[in-house]
Amino acid sequence: MRKALVLGTLALALSGAPALAEDTLRALAAARGIDVGAAVAMRPLREDPLYAGTLKREFGMMVGENAFKWDAIHPLASRYYFDDADEIVAFAEANGMKLRGHTLVWHQQNPTWLARRIRTRDEAIAVLKDHIDTVVGRYKGRIVAWDVVNEAIDDSTGELRESPWLTAIGPDYIALAFRFAHEADPAAKLYYNDYNAEGVGGKGDAVYELVKGLREQGVPIDGVGWQGHLLGNSFTADFMANGERLAALGLEIAITELDVRIKVPADDRGFAQQAKIYATVAATCLALPNCRAIVTWGFTDAHSWVPGFFPGEGAALPFDESYGRKPAYDAIAETLRQ
Ligand code: XIL
Repeated sequence: MRKALVLGTLALALSGAPALAEDTLRALAAARGIDVGAAVAMRPLREDPLYAGTLKREFGMMVGENAFKWDAIHPLASRYYFDDADEIVAFAEANGMKLRGHTLVWHQQNPTWLARRIRTRDEAIAVLKDHIDTVVGRYKGRIVAWDVVNEAIDDSTGELRESPWLTAIGPDYIALAFRFAHEADPAAKLYYNDYNAEGVGGKGDAVYELVKGLREQGVPIDGVGWQGHLLGNSFTADFMANGERLAALGLEIAITELDVRIKVPADDRGFAQQAKIYATVAATCLALPNCRAIVTWGFTDAHSWVPGFFPGEGAALPFDESYGRKPAYDAIAETLRQ
């Protein structure tokens, strides 16, 4: 009996199951009127029951980490591939979770055919419209928010960055993408999404100017996504000021790709610093009336883009590689509870 109890408790601890459903991030966030979500990768979603179980238990929102990107969903000029995206949508709907869509226009993860097919402005506009009509139209009414344009600002100049879309169409590719997306799903919230633009100054100012211009032109943009790929010592104090000026433009905010990378192998000090950043980001979102969601880019250190892209860094997410809750998890939960 005693042994069974111990084993039961152990199993519970290993599975990461919370004692009470109301203690999950999902429930705590709902009580505060925001969504907490995570980006999902296909392989663990299909193969690892602990991944799928943790995801639906802890998160009220999902976004495909790669499945809705051009190279994944539109691999040939004349062929779309919807299986992965459909599966994500079905999983979210089966578990009462909201969906974000990522992304419709980006300079990366484009199929090779794209460059050949967008040599003139007219061609490029036609290809862009077909893609947005098809993808946004397919999931019409089922995706609450789309990252319509991703990472359009150059890191060093603050101008529009080199991209096949800028070359083929000119700067108004951005406005066109928003208009096409709005026609395809008038109810979806449409976002401009970028990194290193959460604060005031530098890229944060460039994004602010871009979206201000779009609002003034009457372009149907609803929000700004702060990717939030942060470091253990990221300066977060000015996120509030940036959020407030975006609110003044009538725009919402979502933290769309949050992770806080630290040096690996990580120690307790690194985890503690990381937890502080997570708490500050969560507190900032709660304090901003226009902040709708906090979405982490993955949720377990077992499946994260960070180690592959930032050598020497990792351990960036709220769950460890065995789906145990890290101090970062507790920090988010505690901030949501306050
Ligand atoms: C990353 C994915 O996590 C990786 O799996 C993929 O190989 C490359 O892209 N900004 C974005 C995301 O907007 O789409 C990127 O996702 C991370 C940076």
